[in-house]
Amino acid sequence: MPPEPLSRPPRVLVFDSGLGGLTVLAAADRLRPEAERLYVADDAVFPYGDLTEPDLVARALAVLDPLIEEGRPDAVVVACNTASTAVLPPLRARWPGLAVVGTVPAVKPAAAASATRRIAVLATPGTVRRDYTRDLVRRFAGDCAVDLVGAPRLATLAEAWLRGDGLDEGGVRSEVAPAFVDRDGRRTDTVVLACTHYPLLVDAFARVAPWPVSWLDPAPAIARRLDAVLGAAGFPSVPSAPVRPGRVVFTSGRHPGPALARALLARGLEPA
Ligand code: DGL
Repeated sequence: MPPEPLSRPPRVLVFDSGLGGLTVLAAADRLRPEAERLYVADDAVFPYGDLTEPDLVARALAVLDPLIEEGRPDAVVVACNTASTAVLPPLRARWPGLAVVGTVPAVKPAAAASATRRIAVLATPGTVRRDYTRDLVRRFAGDCAVDLVGAPRLATLAEAWLRGDGLDEGGVRSEVAPAFVDRDGRRTDTVVLACTHYPLLVDAFARVAPWPVSWLDPAPAIARRLDAVLGAAGFPSVPSAPVRPGRVVFTSGRHPGPALARALLARGLEPA
């Protein structure tokens, strides 16, 4: 039996180490503009890419627990590949009944789409280290050559760009370059954007790429998953609604500068 439709809008909490989750929020807004949105950026600890797995789990739970307790969201979107590789099982165990939507590197669709059978997973160093990512590669891309590329500075470059500090295009070029491999007659034709910050810079990636490739952004699939879990919980979707103004929390307590404040406002977000 489908649940009775609920008449209040769903409450959605979107979480990332920084601003990358905004790429997921934008996709979610297209499907669920009526949702009440709280965006949480753990900028006090950004970047997550270098944290050990236990530190990452402890930190993410320390940020999320009080916000879930207080805000009682209907769904939490962990809009961060790095956090998702470690935090989804403990978060679900702690909050049974809460819909938790994670971010999984799009290895399966990349393997399905690649004609050359060589793909790259461009991610943070933490994400490429994790068994979680290596399992995905084993399960879904066994017949592809897969280059796992942990980019140490790319998320930081994306943050700087969105804060209005300009783009270090040379830095972007050297971070992206290892994703391009032409070996044994197989040339990379598909790159998985396995960090939610990276779609912010996809135009720059295309400019510095040594040859054209498909860039796979997981945001639309995450948004579809969110839409489905909210639907299953009884929230009818209202795709024609205007995007509801939302709130943003920075764990550092810092106020966004003018360029970032404008970027947030353009996404319907104001400081909480
Ligand atoms: N946006 C995050 C991800 O999707 C990571 C950025 C970072 O904190 O290093 O992996």
